[in-house]
Amino acid sequence: MAVLVTGGAGYIGSHTVVALHDSGREVVVVDNLSNSTQRAVDALRELTTPDLVFVELDLCDRRAVSALFSHHDIDSVVHFAALKAVSESVKLPLEYYFNNLMSTIVVLQAMVDYGVNRFVFSSSCTVYGQPDEIPVTEKAPTGAQSPYGHSKHMCEQILADAADAADINVVSLRYFNPVGAHHSSMIGEDPLGIPNNLVPRLMQVADRRIDCLPVYGGDYDTPDGTAIRDYLHVVDLAEAHVLALGALSGGLQGWTAVNVGTGVGSSVLEVIDAAELVIGSPVPYEIVDRREGDIAMIWADPGLAEQVLGWRSTRTLNDMLRDHWNWQCRCES
Ligand code: NAD
Ligand code: WQD
Repeated sequence: MAVLVTGGAGYIGSHTVVALHDSGREVVVVDNLSNSTQRAVDALRELTTPDLVFVELDLCDRRAVSALFSHHDIDSVVHFAALKAVSESVKLPLEYYFNNLMSTIVVLQAMVDYGVNRFVFSSSCTVYGQPDEIPVTEKAPTGAQSPYGHSKHMCEQILADAADAADINVVSLRYFNPVGAHHSSMIGEDPLGIPNNLVPRLMQVADRRIDCLPVYGGDYDTPDGTAIRDYLHVVDLAEAHVLALGALSGGLQGWTAVNVGTGVGSSVLEVIDAAELVIGSPVPYEIVDRREGDIAMIWADPGLAEQVLGWRSTRTLNDMLRDHWNWQCRCES
């Protein structure tokens, strides 16, 4: 029996494929390579097994997904496939709603048709918006602020309804800010063009592809005036998926939302300081206006992840930045 990993050639999916393989699970990887490459699939085969099953298909294609379930012995699904850029989603809301909702519905329907009932979903702390209380728990009200965030919240609602009606058991992992790369430097995040996210952009400044890092906002109500996030190592995050599948196999029922974060917030300036130590050279930056739509601060209460999944993060901000930097240097060479 295999775990179907959708979006498994992407950033978080690829690390999870390795973690699942390392835990002894058989994996079927599906991706349409719209935001990933065959190179990532080749690297995955090197890190796992040359026999790793990879199927290139679009998860919005109902027939193709049904055929996939009929050809493979799938007992659970980890669903990463989605479009994920917040600012792009504001410009292309229909593409985001179509892809993110439709792929989820199509996969769920195939699960119903083939009697598969364990599902792990890639949700996001973006569903909270700016919470009133920090650290944020899963009980906090939701308040997504972009089409991307709404699409994640809507998928959670669809999954909760499917859990009720179709006996599908779901863990919805609400990721905070994943960064870093596998210690082998063979897989990692490889964004096209100038990245939007802090750490990939900072790394491109460090290797002089970009002159200067814009720091969005120096006047937040935080100790150093810059915004605070809960950065977490992508390998820690990958391991949370293995544990979520274990919890479902162990009898966790219904729909459960679980924060996946370290519980520690770092400001933009703290991340820059830590990166300079890891890289060994200064990272030029300039404080500019706040970025529209950004919140001042958020970090997770990761208590439920420990209680329900037995998960907690083990890797530090330095580990994240070192592994991200090593991956970036390898990509360049
Ligand atoms: P990614 O873009 O690297 O990976 C997503 C993969 O899904 C890509 O390889 C893409 O080609 C594939 N894909 C997209 N639509 C598809 C479709 N219709 N059919 C088949 N494949 C399709 O993104 P990621 O950073 O690895 O994110 C994975 C998941 O985690 C996403 O659902 C994202 O919304 C969620 N998430 C990401 C972050 C983050 O900061 N990276 C934070 C919270 C949640
Ligand atoms: C982090 C901090 C920026 C770039 C996004 C999505 C969220 C989730 C994770 C998917 C913020 C600041 C950034 C730069 C900067 N993804 N920054 N200069 O915005 O917390 O979360 O990714 O679900 O939904 O919104 O992450 O890395 O973009 O920003 O100063 O060049 O770094 O303002 O305070 P964010 P990020």
